[in-house]
Amino acid sequence: MCGIAGIALKSGEVGPIIYECLKRLEYRGYDSVGEAAVINGKIVVKKDKGKIDEVESKLKISSLPALVGIGHTRWATHGAPSAENAHPHTDCKGTVAVVHNGIIENFMQLRQELENTGHTFKSRTDSEVVAHLVEEYLKTENEFVDAVRKAVKRLIGAYALALISTTAPEQIICVRKESPLVLGTSKTGNYCASDIPAFLPMTNQIILLEDDELAVLTADRISIRRVDDGELIVREPFSVNWNVETAVKTGYAHFMLKEIHEQPASLRDAIRTHPIYMDLMALTLNKAKKIFLIACGTSYHASLAAAYLFANLARVQVTPVVASEFIDNYAALIDPDTVVLAISQSGETADTLSAVRSARDRGATILGISNSIGSTLTRLSDVYIGQNSGPEMGVAATKTFTAQVTVLTKIVLALARKRQALRTTELEALESGIAQLPDWISETLLQEETVKRIAEKYGENASFCYLGRGINVATALEGRLKLLELSYLPAIAYPAGESKHGFISVIEDGYPVVFVAPKDETHSKIIGNVMEMKARGAKIISIVDWDDEEIPKLSDEVIRLPPGIPAALSPAAYIVPLQFLAYYIAVRKGYDPDFPRNLAKSVTVH
Ligand code: AGP
Repeated sequence: MCGIAGIALKSGEVGPIIYECLKRLEYRGYDSVGEAAVINGKIVVKKDKGKIDEVESKLKISSLPALVGIGHTRWATHGAPSAENAHPHTDCKGTVAVVHNGIIENFMQLRQELENTGHTFKSRTDSEVVAHLVEEYLKTENEFVDAVRKAVKRLIGAYALALISTTAPEQIICVRKESPLVLGTSKTGNYCASDIPAFLPMTNQIILLEDDELAVLTADRISIRRVDDGELIVREPFSVNWNVETAVKTGYAHFMLKEIHEQPASLRDAIRTHPIYMDLMALTLNKAKKIFLIACGTSYHASLAAAYLFANLARVQVTPVVASEFIDNYAALIDPDTVVLAISQSGETADTLSAVRSARDRGATILGISNSIGSTLTRLSDVYIGQNSGPEMGVAATKTFTAQVTVLTKIVLALARKRQALRTTELEALESGIAQLPDWISETLLQEETVKRIAEKYGENASFCYLGRGINVATALEGRLKLLELSYLPAIAYPAGESKHGFISVIEDGYPVVFVAPKDETHSKIIGNVMEMKARGAKIISIVDWDDEEIPKLSDEVIRLPPGIPAALSPAAYIVPLQFLAYYIAVRKGYDPDFPRNLAKSVTVH
C-alpha cells in the first residue's frame, strides 16, 4: 500500500503541492519517496529512501519548476527500501516516468521479455516494468495514451498508476485496477491520488475512476476512457464535505475500524504474493529436522493457528513459541538442521529479533514473514515474505493478523503439495477457499451492527471469557487480546476443553462467554462446553456457521458467518466479529482504540 499523486496545474509550480499531497498520504507508506516532472523536455526525477521530510531536506524533492508532475510515497512490497527501488521509475531513455501502488503479479515474466529485447532495469521492483513496457509501445503507437493502454493490457495484478512522458509533457495518464485511485478537479488544475485527503485542501470536487479505466489529465481537462477499447466515459464530479483528518480515515471514526474494513482488500494483496516465495519457504521447511515458529502477541496467535495447519495439512510437526521464551526453553536444541520461521508485522519487535539472532548464531536457517520490507527481521532472514497489508496505524493488529494467517496457510499448502500430504482435490479446494476469503470477510463485515448491539449490551461486564477448540484456540486467544489491550478488561481465554480444570470457577450468573465454534471436527465437543458454561449461568455469545442449528439454541447472542468457509481457513473470518466486539466495547468506554494506554505499535525493547 503506497501513496501516489499527480497534478496538472494551469500556473505555478507543481513540486511543493505534490510534496504536501504526499505528506497527507504518508499513512499509506513511508519508507521512500519521490517526485518527477518534465522540465525543458527532459524527465527530472528526485527520489530516495527515507521519510518525506528527511528526503526533502536532502534532495529538495519539492523543488520541481513545472506545471505537471507525479509523486509517490512507498510501502515496499517488492525490493527493499532504497533509492533505486523508490518511485518514480523511468524507462531506458528517460521518456516515461511512472508511480505505482499495488502488485504486478507477472512482473518477472514481463521483465525477462523486456530484458531479452535489450531493456536495462535499475530497480528490483515490480513497478519498473510499466515504464519499459510503455517505452516499447511508444515505438509503434503515436499517442502516449495508446502506448499506455497497450502496456496496461499486459499487466496481471492490482495497480493504480500515474505516468508522465516527454512525448506529451502536458499530460498525466492514470490507470486503475483493484487499487484505489481518485481524481479531483478545480479551476486551477486537475489531480489524481490514491486517496481523497491528498488533494482535499485544493478541491473537494471528486471524480471516481473505476477498475479497468484510465484518465488523461491536463490542466484544464480530465477525460476518462475504458482501457480495453479506449471508449470515452463521461462522469460528473461530486463533492465531499470532509476535513483532511476524516478523509485520512476515509470517514471512519478510527484507524482501527478502517483497518478492520480494509481486510478484504489487504487479504487480496496478501494472496497476490508470488508463489515462488511460498515454494522457496516450503523447500527450506521440507529439509528441516526441527521447525520453530516464533513471534509475539498477535503474531504469536497467527503462528499457533499455523502450527495446527502444519500438523493437519502438511503432516509436519512445528513448535510455536512466544519469542521471549524461545532462548531459555529451546536454545540447546537449535542446530544447522533447525529452521526458525519468525512472524512480525513490524519486523522490529526486540524479543522476536533476539530469538532470531540466537538461533542464527547456532546455525539455524531463518525464514521471516513481515509487513515491513526492509525491516530488521527481513534483513536477518534467509528467505522472507512481505505480507502486503500496507501500514497499520491502529496499535491493535487487525488486518495484519488475517494476512499473516493467510500467508502462513499458503506456505503450509505449498509444503503439503511438496510432501504430497494432501490429495490434489483437497489442495485445490483449500487454494480456491483462500481466493474466496476476501469475499467471505466482506460478508462477515455485515455483522458489524449485530456485534455493536452485543457490545452495548455486555460492555459493562467486568470480564469476558473466550473459548475455542482446535485451530480456533488461536482465534479465541486473539479475540481476547483485542479486548484486553483496548478496553483494559481482564478477559480470559482458553482451549474450551480446559474449562473443567480450573477457570470454570470464575463463571457465574451473567458472565459473558464467547465461543468461536465453526462446524468442524470439534463441534460436538464444544457443544458440551457451551452447556457446561450455560449450566453455571454464563451468557453465551457464539460465533457459528451459517447453518448451525444446535449452538444457537443454547446461546444468548449469535453471530453467523457466511456459508462455505473451510475449517482450516476459519480463523481469518471468525476473528472479524471479535475485532468489532473489542472495538465497540472500547469506544463505549470512551477509550481511544487507535492508541491504547501503555502500548506501542512496535515493541523495540525487551
Ligand atoms: C497486537 O494488537 C499488539 N499490537 C501486539 O501484541 C503485537 O502483536 C506484538 O507486539 C507483536 O508485534 P509484531 O507483529 O510487530 O512483531
